[in-house]
Amino acid sequence: MKIRTSLVRSAFGRLNVNPAAEQALLPKEKRRQAAALQKLRAHSAGAWTFALLFVAVALVVTTARSSQSQSRTHTAGFVALDQLAQTSQPPQEAPTGFDNLSNGLVDEQAHGADLHTFEETETIEDGLGPVFNAQACRECHQSPVTGAISQVTELRVGRTNRFGQFENPVVSIGDGTTIIANRSLINDRAICPSGEFPDSEIQERVPDNANVHTFRASLNTLGDGFVEAISSLTLLQFAAKQCKEFGDGVCGQPVFVPVLEAPGQMRVGRFGWKNQHASLLSFSADAYLNEMGITSRLQPEDVTKLCDTVADPENTADAEGLADIDRFARFMRASKAPARDASLAATFDARLGADIFGKIGCDTCHVPTIVTAPSGSVINGGSFVVPDALGNKIIHPFSHFLLHNVGTGDGIVQNGGPLTALKLRTPPLWGVRLRSRLMHDQRALTFHEAIVRHGGEATLAVRNFRNLTDQERQQLITFLKSL
Ligand code: HEC
Ligand code: HEC
Repeated sequence: MKIRTSLVRSAFGRLNVNPAAEQALLPKEKRRQAAALQKLRAHSAGAWTFALLFVAVALVVTTARSSQSQSRTHTAGFVALDQLAQTSQPPQEAPTGFDNLSNGLVDEQAHGADLHTFEETETIEDGLGPVFNAQACRECHQSPVTGAISQVTELRVGRTNRFGQFENPVVSIGDGTTIIANRSLINDRAICPSGEFPDSEIQERVPDNANVHTFRASLNTLGDGFVEAISSLTLLQFAAKQCKEFGDGVCGQPVFVPVLEAPGQMRVGRFGWKNQHASLLSFSADAYLNEMGITSRLQPEDVTKLCDTVADPENTADAEGLADIDRFARFMRASKAPARDASLAATFDARLGADIFGKIGCDTCHVPTIVTAPSGSVINGGSFVVPDALGNKIIHPFSHFLLHNVGTGDGIVQNGGPLTALKLRTPPLWGVRLRSRLMHDQRALTFHEAIVRHGGEATLAVRNFRNLTDQERQQLITFLKSL
C-alpha cells in the first residue's frame, strides 16, 4: 500500500499534539518517530492504523485539561489502548427505543433508581453552585424522554491571542476580588448575592478581552453506553481509512483525553462537541461540577469558594455504595439507543434518501453502522469492563466520532490541543429528527440549512448535494427526518 509522505506528515499534524507535549519530545525522539513511520509506510495495508497508533503511543506525556470546565488541573497521561476480548459470536443489533427502559445492563428497578437521580433537582444544601447552569441533568437532557436533548445551550468563550493561539479566559468575580483562571465555560446562574451573602457578587460574565464565543447545544446521551463501548482502535481505523482515501481534504482527527477515574490514562475521546471525554463517568463528574456546581470524588473542588457552605466533595456514596456520578453513568450506560421513525424509514423516499446519503459522501463522516467492542474488553484506562449488554452490538449512530473542520468551528480548544480550535465532533444523527435546532450553536433551523452550512472538509459532499435534483434533495431530507 503506497502512502504519500505528505499524508504521513499530516498524521503528526492532526493528532493530539499540543505545544507542551511537542516541546517535551526531544528532536532525537522526533527523528526516531519519523524513521519508524517511514518503515511502517513500507508495510501492510494496515500501515496507517499503526502509524496513528505509533504517534499516539509516542505521545505518552501530553498535557491535557479537564474539560467542560477547563478546570485548573493539568494531567500527564499515558495512552491506554482498550484491551479487546475475543469473540466468535456474530454481533447483534443494540436495543433502541425512547421508553427509558433498561437495555439489559441492569434490571428495571435499578434503572428506575438511576433515572430518578438523573432527574433529581439539587438544592444549595446538596451543594448546588456557587456558580451553575441548572439544577438537574434532566433540565437539559429531557426531550422526548429523560437523557435525550433540549434547546438549552451553554456559553463558551475564549481568546485568540495575537499569535493566533487560543487562550482560556480569566473570569473575575466578587467585584474583581476573585479570579477563576482557565475557564472557558461561563455559568449563567449563581446562588448569591442572597440573604446569607448579601454582598457577594459572583455572577460570571464574559471577560472584556474575550474575542471568541459560542453557544453550545445540549447533546443526546441515550445509547451512549454503546458509544463508550466502541474500541478506540475502531475510531483510529476510521481516521486511518478516511485520511488515506481522501487525502488532505477529509481527515477526521482523533484526540486522546484523560480518563478521570483512571488517573494518568488517556483514551480516544468521543463525547461532547470537542470529544472532550472518553468515559461517561468522567463526563458525569465534569457535568455535575460544571453544570450544577456539585463536587464529587472525581472533581472534588468547586470553581470558587465564595458563597460555598457545603464541604467538598459535596456528593458522596449512598447506602448502596454509589455516588450520584456513578448513577448518572450507569443510567446512560443502560439506556437504549435512539430509535428510528420506523414507518417513515420504510418509505420509498426515505430508502432512496439513504442511498443518496451514501453516494454523495455524507457517510464518510456520518458513518451509519459500527460494532462495539466484544464483552469482556477492558476500556477506560483499565477501569471498565464492557458488559454483555453493551459488547459486540451493532449500532447506527451516523457518526464516526472524529473531529472535523466543516467551516463552522467555534475557535475554542478543550482537551484536544490547539489543532482542534476550528473543529467539531461529527454529531451522531440518531434521533436528529427530534432536534428543533441544528448544529453546535443551533443556528441551522432546517435540514437544508444544516447541510449547506457545511464547508471545509465537507465541501465536496455539499457540492454533490447542490448538484442533486430537487426530488433527490427532498428524498435525502426525508431520510434525515426518519433518523
Ligand atoms: C445546563 C444544561 C445541562 C445540564 C444541567 C447538563 N448537561 Fe449534559 N450537556 C449539555 C451540553 C450543552 C452538552 C454539550 C457540551 C459540549 O460539548 O460543549 C452536554 C453534553 C453531555 C454529554 C455528552 C453526550 C455525548 O454523546 O457527547 C453527557 C454524557 C452529558 N451531557 C451528561 C450530563 C449529566 C450526567 C448531567 C448531570 C450531572 C448533565 N449532562 C447536565 C447541557 C447540560
Ligand atoms: C467531513 C465530515 C462531514 C461530512 C462529509 C458531512 N458532515 Fe454533517 N456534520 C459534520 C460536523 C463536524 C457537523 C457539526 C457542525 C457544527 O455543529 O457546527 C455536522 C453536522 C450535521 C448535521 C446537524 C446535526 C445536529 O445534531 O445538529 C446534519 C443534519 C448533518 N451534518 C448532515 C449531513 C449531510 C446530509 C451530509 C452530506 C451532504 C453531511 N452532513 C456531510 C461532519 C460532516
